[in-house]
Amino acid sequence: MNEYDSARLAAILEFNGVFPAFAPEKADIILVNTCSVRAKAEESAIARIWDLKKLKIGNKGLKIGVLGCMAKNRGESLLKDLPFLDFILPPDEYQKLPEILFHNPAPQTPFAKLSNKYSAFIAIQSGCNMRCAYCIVPYVRGREQYREPASILEEIEVATAAGVSEIVLLGQTVNGYRYKGLSFPALLKQVANIEQVERIRFISPHPIHYTSELLDILMNEQKIAPHVHLPVQSGSNSVLKKMKRQYTREAYLNIVQSLRSFNPLYGITTDIICGYPGESEQEFEETLSLLQEARFDGAFMFAYSPREGTPSASEKELITEQEKKNRLQRVIDLQHSITLERAKLMLGRQEIILLEKLSRRNSSEWVGKTGNFKKVIIPAQPDFREGMYVDCVIEGIRGHTLKGSPIKKQM
Ligand code: 5AD
Ligand code: SF4
Repeated sequence: MNEYDSARLAAILEFNGVFPAFAPEKADIILVNTCSVRAKAEESAIARIWDLKKLKIGNKGLKIGVLGCMAKNRGESLLKDLPFLDFILPPDEYQKLPEILFHNPAPQTPFAKLSNKYSAFIAIQSGCNMRCAYCIVPYVRGREQYREPASILEEIEVATAAGVSEIVLLGQTVNGYRYKGLSFPALLKQVANIEQVERIRFISPHPIHYTSELLDILMNEQKIAPHVHLPVQSGSNSVLKKMKRQYTREAYLNIVQSLRSFNPLYGITTDIICGYPGESEQEFEETLSLLQEARFDGAFMFAYSPREGTPSASEKELITEQEKKNRLQRVIDLQHSITLERAKLMLGRQEIILLEKLSRRNSSEWVGKTGNFKKVIIPAQPDFREGMYVDCVIEGIRGHTLKGSPIKKQM
């Protein structure tokens, strides 16, 4: 979501005649887009912002602004803590940017600037109506708002006209999208009907919105990539209840089971929180056993971080930081071995890879993704271009990355 917002902000700036600088030292405007989801995210943003202060010595006209969730979460106190800042701007006030920077009272909100030629993020929903007990998002991003389908489809048409073929629909609980009579599955269908769209992804769905109507379209619409990032957070029903996640371990595993019985290679990734207040060793082990059962292709794993103002922040933390770290390490170790096993299942398979970019490490290799969202490295061919689809055979694994060799190309 932040990446998408940055792209939208870049579009607003370009619309006002501002262009990217080659380096921070050359910039007249620096905007830092921040995240508040965990304490660490805020701490690293603050360290980064302090680093920028020195640039004001060489450029007296430099304006530094802090945007994103931290601007909402910390508000005016940020200006006190970082007195060299020129302004802060929370996500619900981005339309004020031209006014702040250029005294242009007629704000324009063009579509987000494309960050690459092959794929576009398209926000369809903002805010979150869930109240997961640990999460700050509903407080900083507000109530859910759904974007009008006509505007979504128009943005997709503009992106595909510029050569994009992969569409990533975005929302905090993206599959809860609805607009008048239009459900999320119905919107997916409309996006799939756009001829130039070849691959569709969406992040992040919530397990409670996995209706049979949605499962049906996931299985029947070829353009929807066989991958989902479906945050589970914990494998213990008692912890899920305290977290107010509104589903059980069993209900979650049923979704996994439906997707994998349809396609055993369906890519499923997740988010896990370790050391939630009061999580017992046994409850933690239920998360380990869920990982064993679900066999995720990958996971983002975090130690619980109390966020002021959320219900769980007022619960006593009995688990020491060291124990949280130990638990985190245990899930990471287990998940790494499962990720590797899942990668091995791809060996020998023929896959269509969407080429993303030349490898940064080795310019004789390209990096791309399979439909089930596995990263693949392929030896460069003279006609390889960003956004091209190439047929590959998966021949090996390096770390967690697959190695492919091209068979023939198609557009
Ligand atoms: N502590 C740790 N992790 C958190 N997340 C959200 N809030 C917290 C918190 N207070 C994680 C969840 C979510 C991901 C975006 O960040 O796993 O899915
Ligand atoms: Fe946070 Fe829960 Fe909303 Fe996700 S669904 S953004 S974890 S409150």
